[in-house]
Amino acid sequence: MKPQHLDGSSHLLVTGGAGFIGVNFVRRLIENPHGPTVTVLDALTYAGNRESLADLENSPRLHFVHADIRDGETVESLLRASNIRTIVHFAAESHVDRSILGPDAFIDTNIVGTHSLLKAARSFWIGDEPGPHRFHHVSTDEVYGSLEPADPAFSESTPYAPNSPYAASKAASDHLVRAYHHTYGLDTTISNCSNNYGPFQFPEKLIPLVMMNMLAGKALPIYGDGSNVRDWLYVEDHCRGIEAILKGGEPGRVYNIGGLNERKNIDLVRILCAVVDERFAAEPALATAHPNCPAAHGKPCESLITFVKDRPGHDRRYAINADRIERELGFRPVETFETGLAKTVDWYLAHEEWCRRIQDGRYREWVDRQYSDRLAAR
Ligand code: NAD
Ligand code: TYD
Repeated sequence: MKPQHLDGSSHLLVTGGAGFIGVNFVRRLIENPHGPTVTVLDALTYAGNRESLADLENSPRLHFVHADIRDGETVESLLRASNIRTIVHFAAESHVDRSILGPDAFIDTNIVGTHSLLKAARSFWIGDEPGPHRFHHVSTDEVYGSLEPADPAFSESTPYAPNSPYAASKAASDHLVRAYHHTYGLDTTISNCSNNYGPFQFPEKLIPLVMMNMLAGKALPIYGDGSNVRDWLYVEDHCRGIEAILKGGEPGRVYNIGGLNERKNIDLVRILCAVVDERFAAEPALATAHPNCPAAHGKPCESLITFVKDRPGHDRRYAINADRIERELGFRPVETFETGLAKTVDWYLAHEEWCRRIQDGRYREWVDRQYSDRLAAR
C-alpha cells in the first residue's frame, strides 16, 4: 500500500505557504475537515502574506512558523518535533523580471534553500529515524526553455534549457532533488507546471497586475508585441494535481501539470478586459467602487493597453504535454479558461481590501520603478 500524505493522520510541512500557490494549497487542505495537519514555513518576503491565511489560523490543524528554508537547523528540529514525514516545497523567488534585475536572491533561496531543505529531510528521514516519507518539489515549465510556434509541447523528457536566472535557479533545484533521490534514496517527486492564475496572486504577475491596473485606470503594460504565448493553469487545478502526485506518484518521478490552455499575452489581456467590462455593465455599484476604471464610464478597459519595451531574453512560448499525469494518475484540470478567468475576476472584485493592502508600500515601490523605466523606454 502506498504511504498516505494527505489523510487526517498526516502532518505536512508546506514551505512558502504564505505565497500565492502555497496559500491556495494550504487553504484546500485546512478547509477539508478530513485533511491533514499543516505546518507552514515561510520567510514572509515581499511575496509572502500571512493575512491570506488569517481566517484559518485558529484551526488546530494549522501552524505557522516564520523562518527561512536556508535555516537547516530550524527545519530539521521542526521535522523532528512533530515527526513530519511529508514536505511540499513551494518557497522560492518566483518572478522572472526580478531575477533579471537581481539574480542573487534566486540563487540563495531557490538553489541553496532547496539544498538546505533536502539535507534536513535526509538527516531525519533516512539518517537515524528511517520510515516512509515524501519530498514534493514544486517547479516550473520554464526549466525547459522556449518553444517556437510549431514545436511540440514540453514533456518530462524534454532537455532542460533554462533562459532566465529564475528558470536556471529552478532547474538547478530540480537537479538537486533528483540527485537526492538517486544518490541517497530520498522519496522525492517533482512537478513542472505552467503559468498559474487565480485568487491571492501577488500583482507583479501578468493577470493580477492587469486586473488591478484596470480598476485603477492605469496603463496595462504589454511587453514587446504581445505575441508571446503562455499556458494558463487555474491555481486550484495545480493544487489538485499536486494532491494527485502525493497520493499516487512514484518516488523519483517527474510530472508535468498544464492548463491545456495556450494564449498569446495580448489575447489573454483583451479577454480579461472584456470580462471586467461585462461585470461593470451588469453591476452599477462597481462604478462607484472603482471610479477610475474606464468601464465605470462605459469605455472599454482595453483602451488602457500600452505596449512597452520587451523583457530581455523573453521566452517566446511555453506549452505543456500533460499526458503522463493524466495516464498514470488520472489527473486533468477541471477549469476551462473561461470558468477560471471568471472566478479570478470575481475574486479580485470581491476582495478590494486585500488588493488595496497588497498594493501598499513594498509593492508600489517596485512597480513604480519597474514601469516608469519601461514606459519611458517605449
Ligand atoms: P510566490 O512568489 O507568490 O510565493 C513564494 C513564497 O515563498 C512567499 O510566501 C515567500 O515569502 C516564500 N519565500 C521566499 N523565500 C523564502 C525563503 N528563503 N524561506 C522561506 N520562505 C520563502 O510564489 P508562487 O507563485 O506561489 O510560486 C510557488 C512555487 O511554484 C515556486 O516554487 C514557483 O517557482 C513555482 N511555480 C509558480 C508558477 C506561477 O505561475 N506562479 C508556475 C510554475 C511554478
Ligand atoms: P509573468 O506573469 O511575469 O509570468 P512568466 O514570466 O513566469 O511567464 O508574465 C507572463 C507573460 O506576460 C510573459 O510573457 C511576460 C508578459 N508580461 C507582460 O506583457 N506585461 C507585464 O506587465 C507582465 C508582468 C508580464
